[in-house]
Amino acid sequence: MRRVSLLASVAAAGLLLSACGGGSSVEEANPTEATGSVGVFTWWADGSEKVGLDALVDIFDEQYPDLTFDNLAVAGGAGSQAKSVLAANLKSGNPPDSFQAHAGAELQDYINADQLEDLSSFYEEAQLNEAFPQDLLDRLTVDGKIYSVPSNIHRANVVWANVEVLEEAGLDPNNPPADLDAWFADMDKIKESGTTPLAVAGTWTQVQLFENILLATLGPEGYSGLWDGTTDWKSPEVTEAIENYKKALSYTNSDRDTLSDWGPATQLVEDGAAAYNVMGDWAEAKFAQDGLKPGTDYVYFPTPGTDGVFDFLADSFTLPKGAPNPAGSKAWLTTISSVEGQQAFNAAKGSIPARTDVPSDEFGEYQKSAIEDFSSDTIVSSLAHGAAVPVAWLNELSTAVSKFGGPQDVAALQESAASIAEKFAQ
Ligand code: GAL
Repeated sequence: MRRVSLLASVAAAGLLLSACGGGSSVEEANPTEATGSVGVFTWWADGSEKVGLDALVDIFDEQYPDLTFDNLAVAGGAGSQAKSVLAANLKSGNPPDSFQAHAGAELQDYINADQLEDLSSFYEEAQLNEAFPQDLLDRLTVDGKIYSVPSNIHRANVVWANVEVLEEAGLDPNNPPADLDAWFADMDKIKESGTTPLAVAGTWTQVQLFENILLATLGPEGYSGLWDGTTDWKSPEVTEAIENYKKALSYTNSDRDTLSDWGPATQLVEDGAAAYNVMGDWAEAKFAQDGLKPGTDYVYFPTPGTDGVFDFLADSFTLPKGAPNPAGSKAWLTTISSVEGQQAFNAAKGSIPARTDVPSDEFGEYQKSAIEDFSSDTIVSSLAHGAAVPVAWLNELSTAVSKFGGPQDVAALQESAASIAEKFAQ
């Protein structure tokens, strides 16, 4: 049974909802009776990210054979294209059945705009309050209500390095630099050996590099204070952080602005054309799927100066107000939140399960270490991936960071970042 054929035979909207497996309200929509198609909006459109999504869809197909998954993905890492397409669709009253949103400040944007259904009763029915860690539940909850279901937890402060390139420069891959100064010294050696030390791509990956350098320079408390107003953007410590960012940029590939996305930058490390790439652990999925072996071909370590800190982000999925098939949305959310869904998705995505009861034995070496780190590290929120600040703040700061790449005027970036923070901080 398809929604289109239902539409032809049933005129009343209420009847349509209940025929799709729903009751008369979203609250009553029943996933076990859902039929039709479920349109899911993400930015996992290609490469290793699509492999992750496909793994989740396989479980969805097994759990809900009567439903058809409708892939509404819009390409562009970190949602660089998708978020504006989604905003336009929501504004014009054309929501999907579910969309990807980062836990934290980004989710808050949709809640403030009254675009999301409250999923508190769904959480109770599926016993999700017991399944997810409190840190994560806190970032999903607003005024006692909860608005999305997390599929995974990613880490944004990881350096991925090519073993051969490090060895050629006389560096020990198993002995990562302890802080930024030691890392810069290593990068000088790599430069001397004739290889690009640090791979980076266009704007959002530069923002993620900037975020890592802020965290390494200011420490977790100072970094988090940038987003809640307790760290002064005009302070000498922030000047030092921007100087460090400038220095880091001096080690990067000169064509950075022309690299379309994170994939090509990570590829430079895979190919030995660059030594390091600071990237979220979705890069682990790419290394693994391209057949590279950890320890032999590549190594990973927390960005120097951030050991013991987990720069956190989580993808989560929503039930938008006005979703065409809310019972189908709940079916999707049920798959995402299930042990099987989290196992299959995260094994392919490089992330770790948001649930705490997913057996870890089938995960690779990197993911096992990330599960361990998440339980013991200090957790901070990622800037580039929607956890720390609302989308409007991120967009303005991204423009300032991107502009910096040309003249590299430290004072100008500091001033812009300070006035943007003043505008948005509450
Ligand atoms: C993040 C997202 C990750 C991954 C990454 C690169 O924002 O949370 O799942 O997709 O972008 O595209």
